[in-house]
Amino acid sequence: MPGAADAPPREPKDVIEHILERYHAVHRRELAELCPLARKVEGVHAAHPQRPVGIAALLTQMRAELEHHMMREEQMLFPTMLAGGGCTFATRRMRHEHDEHVEQLKALAQLTNDFTPPEDACRSWRALYEGCAKLAADLAAHIELENEVLFPAFEA
Ligand SMILES: [Fe+2]
Ligand SMILES: [Fe+2]
Repeated sequence: MPGAADAPPREPKDVIEHILERYHAVHRRELAELCPLARKVEGVHAAHPQRPVGIAALLTQMRAELEHHMMREEQMLFPTMLAGGGCTFATRRMRHEHDEHVEQLKALAQLTNDFTPPEDACRSWRALYEGCAKLAADLAAHIELENEVLFPAFEA
């Protein structure tokens, strides 16, 4: 559906398809680029007073935890939903993990001065913060779509 960014579909089957394409696949692709980029920026600018200390470790942790979370949605939760099953217990756990992702996004914003590079930042550093800001916006929208639209349709 064109222009679906601000008007995501409401039918569970379509919502799930949208989530997989627009969020799960995109997070995977972008985190695979952001993790090595973060390692590079931290390494090259080790002496810079405004360097984002620990950003590579944080992104690597987020990548691992998101991967695990998305896999469980893809392999267990979404198939159960598509089969018409009740999911209250599973969605409660997923909501709890979403809260943890939100905490990690807060840490990422704090570490990057709200995704604002210093004046003298190089291109890689700017690209890293731009990519992190995009990831943060996408992940927040992804969580909102699951918490507010998809999950409630399957909770008692
Ligand atoms: Fe998801
Ligand atoms: Fe999720």
